Amino acid sequence: MGNLAIFVLIILLQSLMCNVYCSCLNQSLSENILEDSFSFPSDFLFGTASSAYQYEGAFLTEGKGLNNWDIFTHEYPGKIRDENNGDMAVDQYHRFMEDIQLMTSLGVNSYRFSISWSRVLPRGRFGSINYSGITYYNRLIDALISRGIKPFVTLNHLDYPQELEYRFQSWLSPEMQKDFLYLTNICFKHFGDRVKLWTTLNEPNNQIILSHLKGTFPPSRCSLPYGNCSQGNSETEPFIAAHNAILAHAKAVQLYRTKYKEEQKGIIGIVVQTSWFEPISDSTADKAAAERAQAFYSNWILDPVIYGKYPKEMVNILGSALPRFSKKEVEYLKESQSDFVGINHYTSYFIQDCLLSSCNIGFGASKVEGYALKLDRKGNLTIGELTDVNWQHIHPEGFRKMLNYLKDRYHNIPMFITENGFGDLQKPETTVKELLNDAKRIQYMSGYLDALQSAMRDGANVKGYFAWSLLDNFEWLYGYKLRFGLYHVDPVTLKRTPKRSASWYRNYIGENIRRRYD
Ligand code: NOJ
Repeated sequence: MGNLAIFVLIILLQSLMCNVYCSCLNQSLSENILEDSFSFPSDFLFGTASSAYQYEGAFLTEGKGLNNWDIFTHEYPGKIRDENNGDMAVDQYHRFMEDIQLMTSLGVNSYRFSISWSRVLPRGRFGSINYSGITYYNRLIDALISRGIKPFVTLNHLDYPQELEYRFQSWLSPEMQKDFLYLTNICFKHFGDRVKLWTTLNEPNNQIILSHLKGTFPPSRCSLPYGNCSQGNSETEPFIAAHNAILAHAKAVQLYRTKYKEEQKGIIGIVVQTSWFEPISDSTADKAAAERAQAFYSNWILDPVIYGKYPKEMVNILGSALPRFSKKEVEYLKESQSDFVGINHYTSYFIQDCLLSSCNIGFGASKVEGYALKLDRKGNLTIGELTDVNWQHIHPEGFRKMLNYLKDRYHNIPMFITENGFGDLQKPETTVKELLNDAKRIQYMSGYLDALQSAMRDGANVKGYFAWSLLDNFEWLYGYKLRFGLYHVDPVTLKRTPKRSASWYRNYIGENIRRRYD
């Protein structure tokens, strides 16, 4: 071959290589541009979340009455890991101005907090309104608004006046619906001129499993083999309690729609706890089990709230143990449409069928949980990175799948991510320096926020994201030993110190708000 021929061949090869390479490059560039071009909608909320019992403290201050958690933690301190309680919590009642300052420095535009029922109504509807409680929330709301932070108010987050337990066993009685309605009316009336974002109940599904199925949360009701309680019936009571909670929610929504919405122009929804349940195999049985796991968890609440009926998997398995909605109630539920749903999400599990095959005894395997065993691994493969907390597995892809599942099941109803975050379990040897250097939380949040973006690109109608939580706080049975805060709280002085995740979240919000206007 002459020199000229070799030269021409080289040129040809080069151009061929370039074609292949350049088109790959162009493709990956355009994919990147597509990835990068995601921007949150201009009205997207970035916030932090909290709840009254876990934050406020001031447990007998200025007229507050005793609630179920006051009584439980005082009567059975041994049930809380560090034998502590929410008497002082992180004292937000007295320090809310300082905490709002922290929110301002993070750049959040919303704050999710809940109303302490017994601070507003120490004895439920059987006593008078505690106007100091109203004043407290008015001051909090005004201070937030004056800093450009929208209040996102949960009407009830696990705590209720103990009198309601003594009188009629709280959520086991339809009387609780009346009490909840009484509370919500007062809140809409006193706060609704400024609060435009309401949720009724915080994750009744998870709360009721703990309070009436396993009996580890007050009022500690359960039966063997589900838990060890002196009273209760795990096979019936959880479903009665949830039934009352669902109707109480619908009544509050109806009240808001008929009496307040036109003038106040807010929106209202409910919050459920969600987990992603991945079938452990491709078998039809395991896939059906994963669907049952969803039915017995978040769909248990969302199906009635949105469609006026329980999931068919629950009806089939529970039979007469599952209360029925009367025709009138079905209509009522359909009429009382929520404007959105609040999604709390932390984890994923593998699910194995226990209906058609025999299973080891374990989490989820029983009839009342849908015969769907929840596992953190199949063989050597874990569902995600496991953590020190036995229920928190890091699997962002599960979050994306969950949001898509909800999008499809509930006709793309607007959603707010009302909680997502990472808990650091404090061991005796853990140092404050380690807690402040919270790389794992950053890894977790950044993975879950990426998954959120992917889900939104898939079409999920998500309107906001709230990190759980602004501060370390009283984490129920873990006491103060499981820390979810972006800010560390010193157990003695209650001094707030930013963790690395606080500046990470500040940057994330800053970048994503900036990108909207680029
Ligand atoms: C959900 C609950 O709403 C909240 O109270 C709790 O602290 C977090 N999960 C973390 O466990």
